[in-house]
Amino acid sequence: MANKGLRVRSFQSGDYDIIKKYFSSCLLEPAPSAFLHVLNHPIPWTIWGTGVAFVAGGLTLFTKQHPPPTKYIVAATSIWSAAVVTWLHRISMGAYYNYTQWSLTQDMGHIPEYYQLEPIDESNKNNIIYAPKGEKNFFVCEDSTGAIAGFVALDYHPERPKRTGELRRMIVSPTHRRRGVAEFLIQALIKHAKKNDLQVIELGTSDVQYGAKKLYQKLGWKEHHRVFDEIYFIDVIKYELNLENAMQVSPAS
Ligand SMILES: CC(C)(COP(=O)(O)OP(=O)(O)OC[C@H]1O[C@@H](n2cnc3c(N)ncnc32)[C@H](O)[C@@H]1OP(=O)(O)O)[C@@H](O)C(=O)NCCC(=O)NCCS
Repeated sequence: MANKGLRVRSFQSGDYDIIKKYFSSCLLEPAPSAFLHVLNHPIPWTIWGTGVAFVAGGLTLFTKQHPPPTKYIVAATSIWSAAVVTWLHRISMGAYYNYTQWSLTQDMGHIPEYYQLEPIDESNKNNIIYAPKGEKNFFVCEDSTGAIAGFVALDYHPERPKRTGELRRMIVSPTHRRRGVAEFLIQALIKHAKKNDLQVIELGTSDVQYGAKKLYQKLGWKEHHRVFDEIYFIDVIKYELNLENAMQVSPAS
């Protein structure tokens, strides 16, 4: 596919280093928003309030004064508040970092094997060219200079009642954003899914990935359900796109 100087093709082995670099850095971008989100969540506030009550009770016993001296209350509450904020910061950063590292040991560490890509040109050992064998694929978008602008993967779930694919690993390089790269990659993904008779494309994203949520909603994905992650205090949103209603793929593609 080609459009506005952009071109979408399947993964080649020479892409791997840059894909890994964008994947490792771009997936950490939502962490500050996740931290702000978690600071507003009632569960951490309940934990903080319970801690403050214990601090006040403990100081009453320790100093044998009721109420305990203000300077002790202020010092102990400050230490407890700092501990809670540090813990929340760690889990917000950790959520995305752990997920990224885990993904690199899964499909992202073995793209041709996992996405069932078959070598079609091995003449250059540093850049083996692949093509998809079936429903899955790993799409890469190049700009007019040949630089990688973004990528997205299509996974396949044969165990679902309907023929269901999953959009995963959607990343656009920071210098190529808001130029339609994600939309263009998704057009290619939908075209491939339709060619392989998929009926539904699902995906998951977190509640604080605001740009990604807007993107998927614009392209016709509907929220299906949410799963609250009790470790990271954040909703994971599952979206579905019914391919019968999916956007038209441009005839030029
Ligand atoms: C989300 C992301 C993939 C969007 O890529 P992109 O190439 O900039 O998106 P596009 O230019 O194709 O945008 C298409 C539409 O999506 C929406 N959109 C995309 N990014 C947006 C943002 N930051 N804020 C609001 N809307 C946004 C807009 O509706 C946009 O249409 P418009 O430009 O006509 O208003 C990119 O910002 C990214 O890689 N983010 C970090 C990683 C990430 O969150 N990935 C998703 C994992 S689930």
